[in-house]
Amino acid sequence: MDGTKDIKPLSDLCLAAAISHTNSPGLGDKPRHTRGARAAKGRTEPRKSAAASNIPYVVAQVRGKLPHWVSALHETYASPIIRISPTELSFIDGEAWKDIYGYRSGHAPFEKDLLVYGKPPNGVHSLLTAPKEDHTRMRRVIDHAFSDKASREQEPIVTGYVDNLIKRLHNQISGPNQGQVDVVKWYNWMSFDIIGDLSFGQSFGCLETQTYHPWVETIFGNLKGISFMGACNRFTILQYILPCLIPKSIKRMIDEHWAATTANVDRRLELGTDRPDFMSPIIKHNNDEKASLRHEEMMSNASLFVIAGSESVATNLSGTTYYLLQNSDTMRRITEEINSAFTSEDQITPQSVANLPYLQACLSETNRIYPTALTGQAVRVPPAGDTVCGQWVPGGTGVTINQYAAYRSPTNFTDPNQYVPERWLENPRYASDDKSVFQPFSAGPRNCIGKNLGNLETRLVLARMIWNFTMELSEETDPDWEDQQVFLSWQKKPLVVKLKARQRSKKRL
Ligand code: HEM
Repeated sequence: MDGTKDIKPLSDLCLAAAISHTNSPGLGDKPRHTRGARAAKGRTEPRKSAAASNIPYVVAQVRGKLPHWVSALHETYASPIIRISPTELSFIDGEAWKDIYGYRSGHAPFEKDLLVYGKPPNGVHSLLTAPKEDHTRMRRVIDHAFSDKASREQEPIVTGYVDNLIKRLHNQISGPNQGQVDVVKWYNWMSFDIIGDLSFGQSFGCLETQTYHPWVETIFGNLKGISFMGACNRFTILQYILPCLIPKSIKRMIDEHWAATTANVDRRLELGTDRPDFMSPIIKHNNDEKASLRHEEMMSNASLFVIAGSESVATNLSGTTYYLLQNSDTMRRITEEINSAFTSEDQITPQSVANLPYLQACLSETNRIYPTALTGQAVRVPPAGDTVCGQWVPGGTGVTINQYAAYRSPTNFTDPNQYVPERWLENPRYASDDKSVFQPFSAGPRNCIGKNLGNLETRLVLARMIWNFTMELSEETDPDWEDQQVFLSWQKKPLVVKLKARQRSKKRL
């Protein structure tokens, strides 16, 4: 494979140089439509500066433009495989999902790349970073918490918070804000409350207080710092210097975060196994040798549930609201679908919202154009090396599928930068879209365990928002809202929307 034989470890480089090197060609460029990209599929041309050093990668990362940079590289070289650092390759070909993340008989697993994910702050792996054996043991027990039966039992908890969201948004219309609300905050508050309840047996009280709980703030207030530290880990010298440079306030916050996690989990453990939440099955399987979690692993996973299960849902809902408000035809079509499916609000249930094809197409289209998982699920090729997309890749090489780059590529999607839910509904113009590359919940044994819960929340909230309100973008919202930085997740700008209660004829009600 071109360019993979000569992978060399990177010598230490100064971060100051990296930061001053911000004019690298391609960095932060908006993707361009490249004619003939499809025909060029199969060529592998590593970008020279990215192949030579980590600097372009790190610059893109600290600028919050890593997905944009990777996307621009794929387009510039019109190639589904590019080198993004001396030891890392990015793939945007649908076949790569099964090779990198799937089960392949006779092949060793590709383990998570801790250079990208970082080590867990308490030193104990959660599902996300655990090596295969530990992952299999933990996933076996945690799967019970996300089974169909468990999900059905959790539905009343979820529905309760959605009711609360809608009720409080109606109150905003009659309150001093006259219906002007930042929906990013409201979606986040609701999703945190749900995950707090399912993980710790009590909500974070975000909807009630209309503020972020300090536990949540310590994580999300520091995403930029965590991302910056991840960038520093690429340079051996900085790896050693950095711990001494972390401000005491941040260290204290991390300690407080873990102390609060321990207290929350311990309090939940005392409640036993009667609640239909994530912890009951974990407690029930406590003595099962092949499928149980150690106490510290419960902490790591509880923390993961909150991070993975809240921000993702809020991102998809915020993005969908924004794109619907930008596309009046799409908004009209989804409203018609909801109005013709239901005659009263109590008919909008977890089951009935699963039968709304246009609503699902809108949520999928948001996952394509504004994907939630932006780190690219980085893994390392096992020491003996292996093939990916028919190409030999040496052992130890980092490989990844960057969802943003894959979904914005004209090689994979027609009109990649346009929001078109119809592409998911057999529209002939989009018949050649490569849907095999679209895996917003990842694939294989390490795919998203919370997919059903995520789908339930996004479908239910979107249907009830449209049933209850007409929405209009406020002037306070940046017209270029989707131009955002990425530090592990999208740094979402406020999405201020003017809500009005939707008028319905008495007959319909
Ligand atoms: C729109 C909603 C969601 C999307 C798009 C999404 C996407 C993903 C993706 C792409 C991964 C793989 C991450 C990686 O390997 O680095 C993942 C993993 C995970 N997700 Fe989700 N997720 C969503 C909702 C949820 C919810 C509601 C939960 C509930 C707790 C959840 C819990 C998890 C967990 C625990 C993992 C790690 C699984 C493992 O490594 O075995 N997710 N998710």
